[in-house]
Amino acid sequence: SLERFHISEDYGFLLPDPLKELSDYYMPWMEIAYNLPVMIESHQLRVRVDVVLPRNLALPLVEVSRTLGLPPILVHSDLVLANWKKKDPDGPLEIRNLDTIVSLPGGESLKGFILVTLLVEKAAVPGIKALAQAINAVLQPSDDDLLQALKQLKTSIAEMTKALRQMHDYVDPAIFYAAIRIFLSGNQTVREIWNKEDSKRNSKFSWKDNPAIPEGLIYEGVSEEPLKYSGGSAAQSTVFHAFDELLGVCHSKESTTFLHRMREYMPPSHRAFIEEVHSAPSLREYILSSGSCLLCEAYNQCVATLAELRSYHISIVAKYILTGAAKAKDGGLGHLPGPPQALAERGTGGTTVFCFLRSVRDTTLGRIIDPS
Ligand code: HEM
Ligand code: ALA
Repeated sequence: SLERFHISEDYGFLLPDPLKELSDYYMPWMEIAYNLPVMIESHQLRVRVDVVLPRNLALPLVEVSRTLGLPPILVHSDLVLANWKKKDPDGPLEIRNLDTIVSLPGGESLKGFILVTLLVEKAAVPGIKALAQAINAVLQPSDDDLLQALKQLKTSIAEMTKALRQMHDYVDPAIFYAAIRIFLSGNQTVREIWNKEDSKRNSKFSWKDNPAIPEGLIYEGVSEEPLKYSGGSAAQSTVFHAFDELLGVCHSKESTTFLHRMREYMPPSHRAFIEEVHSAPSLREYILSSGSCLLCEAYNQCVATLAELRSYHISIVAKYILTGAAKAKDGGLGHLPGPPQALAERGTGGTTVFCFLRSVRDTTLGRIIDPS
């Protein structure tokens, strides 16, 4: 039944075997795609790709995006879920044996950022299966099965934290801050929603925050006005949304506004999976009314482990964004170009970073069931 949502037994939300090449017809595009880091660093990209996104790129990009049900901007599923390959096809799914298909500036750190994120997704696979088992164990009540599923979910979430730790080994904060983030950046839409909860503003688009295209990006032949979308962020990972829905973690109004918007940046089948989990009978209510200490304890372990994952993520963000911002201010980033000022205080998805992340973590922890 996971198959129905394009979720793989072995790879979860990851695309099991991403296409590495397209037919000859697409060579002009693929040549650019394969040479992005070199072309950007040697300032050749603008010569090949105009600031106005020309009709011959804008139309297919918007058309393909529409077919995929995704916005026409780089998203988590482009950068991570569908952008990996094994060096040795028979070898293990470990960093040593992994590579990206399409790269961007940032060298080994960029690869590390993508591949560590992939490994976090991979570590979530047993958890996704456990989630399905937990829902079944509530629908056709079996406390034994439910207990097993919750234990498996907890283990999987802990494994995600372990996988996330590898960020330190493979990603240099200065390179991440100065070179990588800019390619994940979007514009002001989300911050406007975040601040004012005015979702009508969605229809007004531009890439104002990106200093490389200060006037905004016009998708030629698509719209006269510059279009505006959020930048790439793992807030677009389906895993966390699904786990929150299962465990009954409801975030604050502001956080939910942002997180639900991020669902529009997920493949529609994955989005549908979240909806399915959302519409299942409440696991939390089931456990509360079961009066089972074992189930409460197992549920609490899941919630606490998810909150720990979020705390660990906050420490990563502090290292990669705060330290990066401080270094950039000191002019200590050497030859690297300065990142957009707007990104010093905002996540690439557009949030006020720590205020948002702490709220999400604390709300998670708040779901712990008091044993009394
Ligand atoms: C959200 C930074 C790696 C999962 C965010 C946000 C920031 C951020 C700033 C706030 C939303 C935004 O405005 O973009 C970072 C940095 C990372 C990193 C600097 C590494 C250098 C990861 C990885 C994952 C992840 C590897 C897991 C796959 C999430 C999730 C959210 C989020 C799920 C939404 C908030 C939540 O549900 O707790 N991240 N992130 N992040 N990030 Fe990361
Ligand atoms: N969302 C991450 C950031 O803001 C990538 O840097």
